[in-house]
Amino acid sequence: MERVILGKTGLEVSPICYGSWQLDEKFWGPANVEEHIAAMRRAGEVGVNFFDTADCYGNGRSEEVIGEALSTVPRDQVIITTKVYHNFLEPNRLDVPDLSYDGIVEHCEASLKRLRTDYIDVYLCHMYDKFTDIEETTRAMDDLKKQGKVRHYGMSSWPVEAMRLGIQYGDYEVLQPRFSFWRPETEVDMLPLARSQGMGVMTFSPLLGGLLTGKYTGDEKVERGGRYFRGELFKDLAGRVRKLAPIAEKYGITITQLVLAAVLANPMIHSCITGIRKPAYIEEAAGAMGVTIERKDYYTLRRTLGKLPG
Ligand SMILES: NC(=O)c1ccc[n+]([C@@H]2O[C@H](COP(=O)([O-])OP(=O)(O)OC[C@H]3O[C@@H](n4cnc5c(N)ncnc54)[C@H](OP(=O)(O)O)[C@@H]3O)[C@@H](O)[C@H]2O)c1
Repeated sequence: MERVILGKTGLEVSPICYGSWQLDEKFWGPANVEEHIAAMRRAGEVGVNFFDTADCYGNGRSEEVIGEALSTVPRDQVIITTKVYHNFLEPNRLDVPDLSYDGIVEHCEASLKRLRTDYIDVYLCHMYDKFTDIEETTRAMDDLKKQGKVRHYGMSSWPVEAMRLGIQYGDYEVLQPRFSFWRPETEVDMLPLARSQGMGVMTFSPLLGGLLTGKYTGDEKVERGGRYFRGELFKDLAGRVRKLAPIAEKYGITITQLVLAAVLANPMIHSCITGIRKPAYIEEAAGAMGVTIERKDYYTLRRTLGKLPG
């Protein structure tokens, strides 16, 4: 089994992490829960032990399904990350950011219940709460750690200066930033900062919602995804991705696997979270682990994809 050490947490995780936002029907459309459960169970068989969720994905649904799927697996064989930030416990407080002490403690208890576990391996502040002082947020995380409910904590999409502040006040051990070859901004600030602190780094959205898989020609009708999936821009982007086929062929892998392996080639990234919907997706993603991309191919891939317009 391919494993990497998630920075200073010392956790041994698979380079591919199972992303479960896809259970959020508001963003991703209808979800077939049986298929998601089958995919989560298949993950272990193809070498993936690392799972990512958040309390707000489907208002708790994603955590519930992970809790059910992994209830048949010994707890110490999986590493679970979840996140806190959106206060959705009461309908009229929906989407109010809340990293207050009480908010975090209350949401953590709810996540533990849904996940059917006594502890969360990695607990992340999902976004940055401008209303709460960093010391208060950190105190909640430290107390949860002392109580054994959380093993390690960190942050996700925080502005880089807020990240610096967090590091000053507490032992934020894990960073979860966005990174794809079309959204690579974090490689010049957040990733180096995390590296300098020895933090574990798990990046998200490597396939830009599926656009970087090579499965589109640009003629398809895609309900979600915004402007990248519309008109001439969609055709242009899909065409660029399909030009990666010869490089993928050279390694005997698919375009999706090539893109994931290239993300993992960055020495500052430990694990890459891929959004999964069915067993075939996690099987394909797992095939990217252990693939070493040569320097020349890495830069050809980046040049071929180019920049996202506007
Ligand atoms: N911390 C944060 O703020 C944050 C933000 C976003 C995401 N995340 C985490 O990161 C995970 C991944 O990010 P993401 O969901 O934005 O995007 P992603 O991994 O870039 O894209 C996922 C989509 O790509 C398509 N796909 C994946 N594997 C495929 C395969 N083998 N063949 C064909 N299509 C495939 C699927 O599209 P279809 O659904 O159309 O089939 C899937 O829904 C999320 O699930 C979540 O756990 C965290």
